[in-house]
Amino acid sequence: MEHSGPDGRTGSRGAYLDHAATTPMRAEAVAAMLPYCTAEFANPSGVHAAARRARRALDDARDEMASVLGCAPGEVVFTSGGTEADNLAVLGVHGRVGGLVVTSAIEHDAVLNPARRVGARIVGVTAQGVVDLDALALALDETATLVSVMAVNNEVGTVQPLDDVVASVRRAAPRALVHSDAVQAVVWRDVAVELAECDLVSVSAHKFGGPKGVGALVVRRRAVGALGAICAGGGQERGLRPGTENVAGIVAMAAAARATVDERAGACARTRRLRDRFLDGLTEAVPGMVESAPRDLTAPGHAHVRFPGVAAEELLFLIDEAGVAASAGSACSSGAIEPSHVLRAMGWRGPAVREAVRFTLGPATTEAEIDFAADVVAAAAASLTGLDAMGD
Ligand SMILES: Cc1ncc(COP(=O)(O)O)c(C=O)c1O
Repeated sequence: MEHSGPDGRTGSRGAYLDHAATTPMRAEAVAAMLPYCTAEFANPSGVHAAARRARRALDDARDEMASVLGCAPGEVVFTSGGTEADNLAVLGVHGRVGGLVVTSAIEHDAVLNPARRVGARIVGVTAQGVVDLDALALALDETATLVSVMAVNNEVGTVQPLDDVVASVRRAAPRALVHSDAVQAVVWRDVAVELAECDLVSVSAHKFGGPKGVGALVVRRRAVGALGAICAGGGQERGLRPGTENVAGIVAMAAAARATVDERAGACARTRRLRDRFLDGLTEAVPGMVESAPRDLTAPGHAHVRFPGVAAEELLFLIDEAGVAASAGSACSSGAIEPSHVLRAMGWRGPAVREAVRFTLGPATTEAEIDFAADVVAAAAASLTGLDAMGD
């Protein structure tokens, strides 16, 4: 895709391989939101004609999101993004019904931090980055009220076995609701089908071509009485998420979601081919490179690797200079690279945790970007290990 290079000039040579961090907005989403940033700016809670038009746009977006997420329109609660949706699920259930929260060690901090706050039981994962189902079964008991397991991990990209998770919960903790953070799943997985048995599902628009700062929590009927608001205010979103709705953002999210889902099958096949080409190219060019998780267990856009003896921070600096955007295992808001809790949970120890780099492709990633990035990364890794790129 065409994107701003390191000097900010659009169209300069480069590669954006950080789609798990955020995605460019889709043209459909920009077009859909513009009228609601300008002429149609009214507050949907009002009583006048302009407000009713805004309300209608909100209702249409709710219908669209419900169809994409496989739920009824009344089960969609709009939020300010994935973090708020995850917090609402964890703190909203615990605040209303108490009990035990169980979650996995590889969740995003938006789940892990609220879960820790309420004394959650944290379940380990396998060395391949998949939730340990035996450990989950042992952690469950009749006091559990919420079990939260993500659909696709944001760092290594592993797809989690949600059918097995749900079955285990229904067996051992019949009172518990199941929440899944599907923030990284919408682009690659059929969330409507695969998460149909989950009671609560979080999504975030900016991970699938929508704007930042808007998302949703699916609250299925079974969960309604067990979930309270975590913010006090007006009665919007059935009282579960008070505050004036972000109409423009919500309309854009719905347009992005529809376009994403309509194109999903083709995007998955094309992206998987490009991801494999990238990894195969690097494997050949960088002796010793290690892939962090088996490709068949990960979402098509994820290429998480380790270059032994090369500090991720230094590699990222060099490739950024050359126009390739990627990230370390986990970015944090200060920009500093923290050792990843996900890799630690997978059993990584010592310098390895600082050698991991995450490349994530999106539906718009091109072959030219991939080939350019592979050359740049191989040259950077070679220069940092004192070897010549490609051995010549
Ligand atoms: C798995 C996962 N959950 C939650 C979030 C938080 O979403 P948001 O940026 O919309 O708050 C992210 C964002 O990186 C994520 O990858």
